[in-house]
Amino acid sequence: MPELSVVVPTFSEAQNLPELQRLLSRSLGTLDWELIVVDDDSPDRTADVARELAQADRRVRCIQRIGRRGLSSAVIEGILSSSAPLVVVMDADLQHDESIIPRMIELLLRDELDVVVGSRHAETGSVGEWDRRRVAMSNVAARLARGLIPKDLHDPMSGFFLARSSVVRQLAHRLSGRGYKILLDLFASSPRPLRFAEVPYTFRARAHGESKLDSLVVWQYLMMLLDKRIGHIVSPRLISFAFVGGLGIGVHYAVLSTLYVGLGARFVIAQGAAIWAAMTSNFFCNNLLTYRDRRLHGVRLLRGLLSFYAVCALGAFANIGVAAYAFAQRGHWAISALAGIVVGTLWNYLASAHFTWGGDPDRG
Ligand code: GDD
Ligand code: MN
Repeated sequence: MPELSVVVPTFSEAQNLPELQRLLSRSLGTLDWELIVVDDDSPDRTADVARELAQADRRVRCIQRIGRRGLSSAVIEGILSSSAPLVVVMDADLQHDESIIPRMIELLLRDELDVVVGSRHAETGSVGEWDRRRVAMSNVAARLARGLIPKDLHDPMSGFFLARSSVVRQLAHRLSGRGYKILLDLFASSPRPLRFAEVPYTFRARAHGESKLDSLVVWQYLMMLLDKRIGHIVSPRLISFAFVGGLGIGVHYAVLSTLYVGLGARFVIAQGAAIWAAMTSNFFCNNLLTYRDRRLHGVRLLRGLLSFYAVCALGAFANIGVAAYAFAQRGHWAISALAGIVVGTLWNYLASAHFTWGGDPDRG
């Protein structure tokens, strides 16, 4: 059993892996360590590169996940696959300074800590307009997480840390696993305060390739916070689904008014087109936001769209049925309509989770 597992989530990092392995070998010296690459079926065949490295070095292994995406969930799976008492989580792109790992270990053992965070030097990080914007965004993100993380943790957004694997295992069932802020997830999920320290390092420039974190990470981050704050009451996926449904109403009225008011189309035609447009845009928005971690592509995207139409058609029947029943019971028309909308939305949510995006809606 190795003393340390280095868990590295990858998406299209084939060019960086060999160098990462070299750097780790150099910095970890005589320590008994292993490298676990958790790859989400990268198009650049990162998993093949990892397996090639593993053939020459038995300390390397690879978990290749199919049809899944997500930095946090990849990290969790990597850690759970390890039997080493200590785990380091770091990125593959050489931005995290592997040379501080021995110091992190020393500190963790000496002070009997749960976690040692590699903290980015704000002042030594490269400057420039973009970086300042990113620092500002990072500050806002940290403020939103207030109360979930310790106040004296300087870099809660860090993707580079050392932890006792037993601690992660204990928290595994509580972790949200959404998005990419795994460290924050750990702190926010722990029922007792985690004992931690920070070791500063200088965030390097990415070696090859580009960042995988696009503007939608903001959405994922908010979903993760929602999950941590109210996830025990209502699933963040349902919230996201309902939010998209709200957008769909906007689409509906935009199309309806353009066709009916603007172009003078017949009302039924305009209403029909508006329903079709709203269903279609809801499908794509949900695929992008609500089910980002199991996003459908290619043929599965088309099949998903058709099944979504079918689900929504039944949802509309349920909606009308419930509303008509409530109305017949002398319910107020607006309340009756709302009852129909709530039941229809719940149906659409549960049925599409199963038929369109497959699986249990509350699981990643
Ligand atoms: N398995 C898997 N699945 N890995 C992923 C995915 C995914 O969907 N998305 C990204 N990765 C991998 C990348 O290949 C890389 O090794 C690592 O996760 C970080 O992704 P980057 O795209 O390089 O992120 P970044 O540099 O913008 O941000 C990182 O550093 C920040 C500062 O430490 C992340 O680690 C952030 O969480 C962190 O705040
Ligand atoms: Mn990076």
